[in-house]
Amino acid sequence: MRTETIRDVDVKSRPVLVRVDFNVPLDKQTRQVMDDTRIRAALPTIRYLIDHGAKVILCSHLGRPDGKIVEALRLDPVAKRLSELLGQPVKKIGAAVGPEAQAAEQAMKPGEVLLLENIRFYPGEESNDPDFARELSSLAQIYVNDAFGTAHRAHASTEGVATFLPAYAGLLMEKEIEALSRALTNPARPFAAVIGGAKVSDKIKVLQHLVDKVDTLLIGGGMANTFLLADGYQVGDSLVESDRVDAALDIMSRANQRGVKLLLPKDVVIADSFSADAVSRAVPATQVPNGWRILDIGPETVESFSQELKRCQTVLWNGPMGVFEFPRFAEGTRSIARVLAELNATTIIGGGESVAAVEQLGLSDRMTHVSTGGGATLEFLEGRVLPGVAVLRTTKN
Ligand code: 3PG
Repeated sequence: MRTETIRDVDVKSRPVLVRVDFNVPLDKQTRQVMDDTRIRAALPTIRYLIDHGAKVILCSHLGRPDGKIVEALRLDPVAKRLSELLGQPVKKIGAAVGPEAQAAEQAMKPGEVLLLENIRFYPGEESNDPDFARELSSLAQIYVNDAFGTAHRAHASTEGVATFLPAYAGLLMEKEIEALSRALTNPARPFAAVIGGAKVSDKIKVLQHLVDKVDTLLIGGGMANTFLLADGYQVGDSLVESDRVDAALDIMSRANQRGVKLLLPKDVVIADSFSADAVSRAVPATQVPNGWRILDIGPETVESFSQELKRCQTVLWNGPMGVFEFPRFAEGTRSIARVLAELNATTIIGGGESVAAVEQLGLSDRMTHVSTGGGATLEFLEGRVLPGVAVLRTTKN
């Protein structure tokens, strides 16, 4: 089955409601968009619809206003940035439903772009209220979901509207689904997953799902501490989740049964406190003294991970290798980004801080796919069907 996309429907002169994920960071003082990655990621869909004569009605959330109007979360700065990127005006209104939205839609000409107000100002959005979804859908004849980053939410604008309108994937949604699904179902092998981040508990379902798919599992970040502990190492004062030691043991034994190579850090960068300017040094993972804590993978680990990754045809990376927000403990994460950029393989960067690392180093273009999702990408990697994807039309051909 193939998910139908905007290429499968005639949009000419028709009002099309497009759910995008413009949940972008704004500067607290200037209210300018600080990172426009998600806006740029939606441009192919918006341009396609403009070029095919649709009336493009964009809908997004920004932040978590909890069903109330929050002045600081209006979408005006987003409309301004989008208009600059598109090179054409984007009309922004102060409502998402009701007379103002209806009038704005009525006044649209083919090829024009309208941005509705923050959809989470309405309580019916997050409660997925059918009446609210019906009202929103009455603005359009076709629904397009391009908000992969919000596809794990069953809200009115991501799921409910599809009850009332034919629902198609946008081009970003299509790209995300294809890249992540191919890695999970039909990867070129050997296939490695590099998984990091602070806590095992956040990634346990991802690890359980991936251990049945990959040839190699490389574990770094704070979560590796719990694996090291499970493997019998002393980890000093490092962050560990003692209640997840059994889960770590279970992953290790499943890897062993399946013949999956599981690599843990050989050496680590330790610090005498959790701070950016802590005293630090690299030590073997077997020699973490009491009073010290692991804040990054060490150079030998970078080397061994790098050797392993060089023989792989597909690499999926999610989660930093250390405390990436402290420059002194960011080197492991940055090194992995550089290694992936040099590979002659399919490289998929699955959301969050690993994406931030790749972007800071200017390496996004060197990766096969950099996901725009955070929680959505994680849920996809857990093998879950995302509600915003489930509602899209499918076809056999
Ligand atoms: C995100 O930033 O991950 C998405 O926009 C979803 O936002 P949410 O977690 O507030 O639903």
